[in-house]
Order: sequence, then C-alpha cells, then structure tokens
Amino acid sequence: MNEMSIEELPGIGPATAEKLRDAGFNSVEAIAVASPAELAGTAEIGESTASKIIMAARRSADVGGFETGDAILERRKEVGRLSMGCTEVDRMMGGGFETQAITEVYGEFGSGKTQIAHQLAVNAQLPVDKGGLNGSVILIDTENTFRPDRIAQMVKGLSNRYETEYEPEEFLKNIHVARAYNSNHQILLMESASELADSLRDTGKPVRLLIVDSLTAHFRAEYVGRGTLADRQQKLNKHLHNIMRFADLNNAMVFVTNQVMSKPDAFFGDPTKPIGGHILGHTSTFRIYLRKSKGDKRVAKLVDSPNLPDGEALFSVTPEGLVD
Ligand code: GTP
Ligand code: MG
Repeated sequence: MNEMSIEELPGIGPATAEKLRDAGFNSVEAIAVASPAELAGTAEIGESTASKIIMAARRSADVGGFETGDAILERRKEVGRLSMGCTEVDRMMGGGFETQAITEVYGEFGSGKTQIAHQLAVNAQLPVDKGGLNGSVILIDTENTFRPDRIAQMVKGLSNRYETEYEPEEFLKNIHVARAYNSNHQILLMESASELADSLRDTGKPVRLLIVDSLTAHFRAEYVGRGTLADRQQKLNKHLHNIMRFADLNNAMVFVTNQVMSKPDAFFGDPTKPIGGHILGHTSTFRIYLRKSKGDKRVAKLVDSPNLPDGEALFSVTPEGLVD
C-alpha cells in the first residue's frame, strides 16, 4: 500500500491539499480514481492541472490506466464473499455478497432491508471460514433504525448456531454508526468513513462492510417535483461514485437499501419500481428486489448482476436473526 501523502504529488501545495482533504480526497489512491472535472471543481484549479495531478497519483498509486486481464484476475482473487447465513440467498449470490461491489436491495416498508443490514453487520465480523470477512463495519443510518438490541439478539443466534460463546459487546464495538441528517450530511459522511477506514486498516479489524440504510430516503424527501430530478440524480450519482471508490480501495462489500415508489407518486408505471432510476441501477453491481411472503418469510430476487443468473431465494426473519 502506498503511504505517500497527497502534498508529495506535483502541483499540490498546502492550500490545494487542504481543499482536497476537505472534499474527501485524503489519499493518493482517492485522487488517482477521481475525474479531472471533479478534482478541478473541488480544488479550484484548472482541469489540465487536475489531469496532471491525477496522472501523477495514478503512477504513484499504481491504480491508473488500462489493466491487463491477468491483473484484473489478480485483483478479483481478493474479492471476498459475505454470507447472509441463509442457504438459498448465499447460493443465489454465488456463495455470498461480493466485496469490491455495491449490492442494492430495494423493497417496500417492512420487507426486511434493515434486518438484512443488521445481519450483515454481525456476519461481516466472523472469520472467513464462517462466511464472514473478519472485519469492522461502517453504517450510515439515515432513518434512525439501527438497534443495538437487535444486533445482540442476532449474536445470540450465532452463538447457538455455532455452539460458541460470542459476546454481543464485542460485535457492537466493531460497528461504527453515524446518523445522516440530510443528503448533504450523508455525502459528507463518506469522507469520515474513508478516514475511519484508513485508521482501521492495520488494526486486524479493517473495515470490510459499508452499509447505507437508506441510500435514497433523504434525496427523495428533499428533491420533490419534476424540476429537481436532474439535480437529485447528479448528486446521487456522485455519492455513488464515492461509495464505489470506497468499495474498491478497502476491498469492502457495500450494502445499500432503497425504497420502492409508494402509491402517491405512482400515477403511472410500476409501484414496485425502485427510487433513483437508471443511475442507481447501473452503478449497483448487484440488485435485489425484496418482498414479503407469508408470516416471517421473505423472498429475495436477484434482478441484476454482472456474472450470476437471475434467481429467487426464500429466507425467514426470526428473533435469532435471518435463517433458512
Ligand atoms: P423500511 O425501512 O420501512 O422501508 O422497511 P425495511 O425493509 O427496512 O424493513 P425492516 O427490515 O425494518 O423489516 C421489518 C420487519 O422485520 C418487521 O415487519 C418484522 O417482521 C421484522 N422484524 C423487525 N425487527 C424484528 C425483531 O426484532 N425480531 C423479529 N423476529 N423480527 C423483526
Ligand atoms: Mg429500513
């Protein structure tokens, strides 16, 4: 890993460095994967200067330009898989949710999106041989639905499943939760998330899971009316690119939740359509539609994936967590 500070890049003085840091470009890696326009706007420099800085960062960070197929294969070897602990879902996902990718789950209220978020926050801390990523978790909570008690119940569930005495407190210690009060705050929290991930990288519990629950709720509430749609999509798009960058730089799994359009604004079209439209659809690597079935049963349907066949999987929400 490159430990170079961003001031060491040609063209970055202290003032520019400060502006870049304020905007979340804390590392050479982060600059290397930025676009010239993005960097120019942030640091108030010309685009050609920005391009030169980015090229220098790419050389230093060794992340830029074209990659050969075998190099991609090498990076893909690092891809981890996080188990939800439910046989059918894990199978549908090719053995678990992939790192270096964004998985979006959308569904109506009560379909279980937040429950999955809680279960993944627990499972991610397990060792690899138990389907975990042996890592810490960052949760951006926009709806104030994180419940430590629920985590404790799920940890008890795991203790029973593996006949091991897991301590709920130990799991809670590795879940870093931030409330996001509005969409701008949510965007800003990605910077803190990157800093936190940097500081935890060498602790033995690096951040391997980022959850944003809900990704779209604030955007949806704040940008109402047709005229604001383009603006909303642009912001959401940029936010998602920051999130994707986080997934790549940290070899992390990213789990985001999304609502479906509820009745009042579904004058036309499908009321089970996710919010956010095409941009979100194209950026999420995996897209899952969740719906309620009988009682505590839920159906997860994989509707979009780069490499897996579409499929459906059944699981249950129980007091002990998510099970077959
Ligand atoms: P919105 O965020 O409102 O869009 O819904 P969501 O998809 O996040 O739903 P959530 O994951 O909160 O699922 C709620 C459902 O999970 C409830 O209707 C319950 O069936 C179940 N549930 C929530 N908490 C618990 C719990 O502590 N124990 C058990 N057994 N089930 C729970
Ligand atoms: Mg929820």
